[in-house]
Amino acid sequence: MIKIIHLTFVLLAFASFVGRVLLPITHPNLLQQKAFKIAPHVIDTLLLLSGITLVFQGSWLSGDYGWLVAKIIALLIYIGLGVLVMRSEGTTRWLAFAGAIGCFIYIGIVAVSKNPWFFL
Ligand code: HEM
Repeated sequence: MIKIIHLTFVLLAFASFVGRVLLPITHPNLLQQKAFKIAPHVIDTLLLLSGITLVFQGSWLSGDYGWLVAKIIALLIYIGLGVLVMRSEGTTRWLAFAGAIGCFIYIGIVAVSKNPWFFL
């Protein structure tokens, strides 16, 4: 059940991140609405809380948790690149956006494969 909630928030977090980058271009007025300002924070918090719940539910800290460490490191890089996307313009913004999407995909594959080095 928690995993379904986690996966739902994974999808919502992806949609809200892409939305925050594309909406200013396509529908700038929408971003002025309170719901659009608050929703990303609520979604990201619930994604984090559901992930932490899964860590304890699955006893991942007492077993082979290398993939979890890789996931959290990639998550921190994703957050850093996300901040750069929101604060920069032009090529830097789009490179940071591509990097953040790459991190998100890496996090998803590591979660499924449980192998931080799946690409080797
Ligand atoms: C961008 C953020 C995240 C993405 C894209 C993501 C993605 C995923 C995916 C796709 C799964 C399903 C894996 C499977 O069914 O085999 C999963 C499960 C899981 N995630 Fe996340 N997750 C994110 C954030 C987090 C965070 C922040 C934590 C913990 C602090 C976390 C901990 C877990 C755990 C423990 C599982 C369950 C693994 C299992 O029992 O098989 N996730 N995640």
